[in-house]
Amino acid sequence: MAATFRIAALKERAAGETRVALTPETAKKFIALGASVVVEAGAGLAASIADADYAAVGAELAKAAAAAVKGADAVLGVQGPEAKALKGANAGAWVIAGLDPFGQRGRVDEYAAAGLEALAMEFMPRITRAQSMDILSSQSNLAGYKAVIEAANLYGRAFPMMMTAAGTISAAKAFVMGVGVAGLQAIATARRLGAQVSATDVRSATREQIISLGAKPIFVESVAGIEGEGAGGYATEMSEEYQKAQAELVSSHIAKQDIVITTALIPGRAAPRLISDAQIASMKPGSVIFDLAVAQGGNVEGSVADQVVERHGVKILGYSNTPAKLPADASALFARNLYNFLSAFWDKEAGRPVLDAEIGDAIRLTQGGKVVNQRLLGA
Ligand code: NAI
Repeated sequence: MAATFRIAALKERAAGETRVALTPETAKKFIALGASVVVEAGAGLAASIADADYAAVGAELAKAAAAAVKGADAVLGVQGPEAKALKGANAGAWVIAGLDPFGQRGRVDEYAAAGLEALAMEFMPRITRAQSMDILSSQSNLAGYKAVIEAANLYGRAFPMMMTAAGTISAAKAFVMGVGVAGLQAIATARRLGAQVSATDVRSATREQIISLGAKPIFVESVAGIEGEGAGGYATEMSEEYQKAQAELVSSHIAKQDIVITTALIPGRAAPRLISDAQIASMKPGSVIFDLAVAQGGNVEGSVADQVVERHGVKILGYSNTPAKLPADASALFARNLYNFLSAFWDKEAGRPVLDAEIGDAIRLTQGGKVVNQRLLGA
């Protein structure tokens, strides 16, 4: 009989990281699959999960990371642990987390040197069967929600129109720039709060989605042949002509907005600059901009991660880690993404997951002492 597949979950070490990659729910399910599960003590505390909740479903608790990792076949994380923290794991053990492969390239090399097999969850291909394993989607959705809540909190007025005995106050006008997973949730959240919502994207396919959520699409119409959609449904970089037309359109629209949420990202590049200082100056004092792309370079001129910056009377905010502001839900969904991934590949006879090429090759960064991922090798 094969040895029991051993899964370890560590406490996150990165500053400001409050999430955890394993919840009691997923620990229970892993055990039901036939795995053994060990959790570093205190791993769930910032996400409101007590050690006793893990113990109650049959997970072991380890006092320190080194004890948790000992004999592990898979180590789960939200962010990638240091390679040296993984000493004692089995040869070829999997490190499964959001590994930030481009940003943390040095660490990827260390995983290779340590003989670990690093699996980067953010490289999960955008195919239908992998939707339930996609950490970018599950976390972006929550980030889109939180961005609107934070903007509403900074705004000195209410979102909904209110007719009161003392008179009427008008609805806030909210504009969402970038309508991927986060943008769609931002639209829905702003609508629920009672704002008048408009939205824009470079991918023309989003127009229907904007309308179906009850918001107004704002699109560049004058530039021919735009589609804006590249591999995997992601945005491509747009032509100069398009960018100029987009800037003009946004300038006239933004001056009338109270709330702007920006979410625009282009994979493998710095976030596109969507709002200039001059455009901020055209907005009404008291308006609020939330820059969800601030950690990738920012969509908004002058935005600073984790600080409220005031420019021309407009408040600008963005967090370096927005999902970490909702640790309980973000952890629940992240942990399910990992469970959905490992359970989909669970091989009963082998008593462990066995990956196929389509997903395995996409997410595997290191194997047999080498970096093996085509995106990292630049092929
Ligand atoms: P993202 O986080 O990479 O980018 C956010 C949004 O910004 C995108 O909609 C992008 O088009 C937009 N954007 C980029 N440059 C812009 C600019 N200059 N101006 C305005 N907007 C700009 O995107 P996300 O949320 O990851 O989604 C991308 C696509 O992938 C969507 O179509 C989504 O439905 C799809 N998807 C598919 C999945 C699957 O099939 N497994 C899972 C998740 C998403």
